[in-house]
Amino acid sequence: MWDRLLVDCRIATMEPAPSNPLGVIESGAIGIQDGRIVRVGKRTDLAGFRAREVVPLGGAWVTPGLIDCHTHLIFAGTRANEHAMRRAGASYEEIAQAGGGIASTVAATRAAPNDRLLAAASGRLHALIEGGVTTVEIKSGYALDVEGEIRLLRCADALAASEPVRVVPTLLALHALPKEWAERRSDYVAMIADELIPLAARQRLAASVDAFCDRIAFTPDEVERLFKAALANGLPVRLHAEQLSNQNGAVLAAKYKALSADHLEHLDEAGAKALAKAGTVAVLLPGAFYALQESRRPPLELLRRHKVPIAIATDCNPGTSPMLSPTLAMNMACTLFGLTPEEALAGMTLNAARALGLAHEVGSIVAGKAADLCVWRIKSPAELGYWIGLPGPERRIFGGQDS
Ligand code: NIG
Ligand code: FE
Repeated sequence: MWDRLLVDCRIATMEPAPSNPLGVIESGAIGIQDGRIVRVGKRTDLAGFRAREVVPLGGAWVTPGLIDCHTHLIFAGTRANEHAMRRAGASYEEIAQAGGGIASTVAATRAAPNDRLLAAASGRLHALIEGGVTTVEIKSGYALDVEGEIRLLRCADALAASEPVRVVPTLLALHALPKEWAERRSDYVAMIADELIPLAARQRLAASVDAFCDRIAFTPDEVERLFKAALANGLPVRLHAEQLSNQNGAVLAAKYKALSADHLEHLDEAGAKALAKAGTVAVLLPGAFYALQESRRPPLELLRRHKVPIAIATDCNPGTSPMLSPTLAMNMACTLFGLTPEEALAGMTLNAARALGLAHEVGSIVAGKAADLCVWRIKSPAELGYWIGLPGPERRIFGGQDS
């Protein structure tokens, strides 16, 4: 006897077939046992199975729970002042070089006690959860010293323990060079590679290691040093690459078999080919593109031509993407970057799961995966990328339970 049987629904399984890109099952049913999907099919095919609870969904659409695979949720303060400065003509790079940007969030975050940091982050997390998110990646990166980064990863752990969502913590080890290290760049990188990464790995606080490779952040050589340390400590890598300029970050990420390369507005063909060959997911972040009023879009045609899997995320952060709605990210990916609604949905489900190395566990509706589901009162899945700021799902099921 199963725990639950969802019936009277249309299912976008996200297990694609040639003439059925969303793997749609009409008049579907989903069997759930011990928090996992045990069977998916047409209601008639599941007729012989019994469950303690039969849940009629009145013809609603069911999708996998949404996966936000790139966020910087844990920080103190806001940067609303920079939003105003940018309206007055200052660029993101100018603000960063003048000591604002990431550095200002670092100062606020370092000064915030744990309870205040957690309260702020859980408020943001609740918004994502209400929007349909069942798995969220959370980066550190706003402390920039060994103890502080560990503290942020512990906050991510605390959120995982207290909220109905799967949290995937990332050590964003090279985000910005703190000003106290301005004259000692290579010592800073060495400390992060030789102290912080082994410590985070030993304490099992991070699932991967990330860096920001750009003119205002870290060079490919510095990132390479970091990647070597990550892999030596058993942690896979990902990279903020080609956001503001092309640094051959995608090729570098691919060389180290990165799970994802993120942003990619300045990606070139060599980079796209390398990502495809390495199986690295391209994570597109339309919130940052929008907030920075960028004009150069990520090269979607190149990604499609080379069959690079494309994911979408909110990039929720105080500087470049103060965005708390996963469906708004999907809408922006369609409107600003030209993704189809199907690509956008795959970008926040199956391909986002791949970007987190969790495609065996979440991202599609198939027997064996976690029963993380969203139930939407919509006429077709295309509506998820159509509304500008669609409210969250009618029901959100996490590990088989409504939450
Ligand atoms: O993903 N690109 C670097 N990191 C963040 C921005 C962080 C910030 O400005 O606070 C991003 O856009
Ligand atoms: Fe980011």
